[in-house]
Amino acid sequence: MPQAVSGLAPAGASLAVRQDFPILGRRLGGKPLIYLDSAATSQKPNAVIDAVADYMRHHNANVHRGVYPLAAESDAAYEGARTRIAAFTGSQAPQWTTVFTRNVTEAINLVAASWGRANIGPGDAVLITEMEHHANVVPWQMLCTERGAELRYLAIDEHGQLSLEALQDELDRGDVKLVSFTHVSNVLGTINPVADITQRIRTAGAISFVDGAQAVPHMPVDVATLGADFYGWTGHKAVGPTGIGVLHGRTDVMEAMQPFMTGGDMIASVDLFSATWNELPYKFEAGTPAIAEAVGLGAAVDYLSAVGMERVRDHERALTGYMLTRLAEIPGLTVVGPQDAGARSGLAAFTIDGMHPHDIAELAGRAGVCIRAGHHCAQPLMRRLGLAATARASVGIYTEAWEIDALIDALVAGRAVFED
Ligand code: ALA
Repeated sequence: MPQAVSGLAPAGASLAVRQDFPILGRRLGGKPLIYLDSAATSQKPNAVIDAVADYMRHHNANVHRGVYPLAAESDAAYEGARTRIAAFTGSQAPQWTTVFTRNVTEAINLVAASWGRANIGPGDAVLITEMEHHANVVPWQMLCTERGAELRYLAIDEHGQLSLEALQDELDRGDVKLVSFTHVSNVLGTINPVADITQRIRTAGAISFVDGAQAVPHMPVDVATLGADFYGWTGHKAVGPTGIGVLHGRTDVMEAMQPFMTGGDMIASVDLFSATWNELPYKFEAGTPAIAEAVGLGAAVDYLSAVGMERVRDHERALTGYMLTRLAEIPGLTVVGPQDAGARSGLAAFTIDGMHPHDIAELAGRAGVCIRAGHHCAQPLMRRLGLAATARASVGIYTEAWEIDALIDALVAGRAVFED
């Protein structure tokens, strides 16, 4: 049995939820499926699958348009999901608005296009960090190029962490209008001190965007306490469906913003040559939304709440400590990012001397172990680390310690192939 990680729950402990995830019962090539790629996307519990199917079977109608009883059921399902999702992330108070997007990428694009175009111009700077994935890089590149503004990067240190002093130096330059940064790095695993960062940004009179895609599925998140002006995340990493994301924004900031996309549902009235906008959050939801997916995400947050996000974090932290300990047994293996499980989320991106990351993932896959290899949608970070690619194992609510053991066995066997 795995050893306990000091000060934490035993790594062998389980949240006893695997039976809720039908895909985890699959066998591939005669071997049990060992899914260690939850940072790319999570698996889905029956509660989510059933909620989507039930909506489609029994309640399907367009939203915000019909007066008949079936349409009212659909409205209630869609808006009920929004209310529960807002409560799940502590943003139910009226000073927060929760908008459905397709994913966190669309949430970032919404803010870059709508807030950015109106508020960023020549002489201004947008600050992001060296640990961002492409979704939190490219929209700001586009905005700064279009508006003649400067895009600057906050450096990471040798442990893959940000420096609050360096952040303060950047803010003291006086030209930073917006800072966008990730809550949890999808490569380093680093958990950033969001409240400390947003407090400095607010004091400097700038706007903050926090990308919570790798945080919300793995730890308690309270948007109001974290203090960001905008907080975005995505459903499919949080045991919900694909095609549904969330943007929580400060209502006063969003009131002043122009729409991101235009069309049906986001208007109050349309004349031949002009239109006025619907109230929040509908101003930012043009066209028929992803209704079934929103209902599925509502079921996902109900599911996560029932398990308890403190328990999820404790479990994943213990697993991460166990994974780091066991990975250290492999000669030539280097894990990037903080080495302390308490400072990182449940993923480990790593290299092994003499083995290409794609070969590592391929050999692990033959043993039934699913891990990701590549640049993890973070090419600037990879260059900063001096790497072309890494392999990455990432855990989820359903991961158990024996799966880490299976990964280690697969890596040991893979190394042996390369040594032969
Ligand atoms: N950004 C996602 C990942 O890290 C897709 O795999």
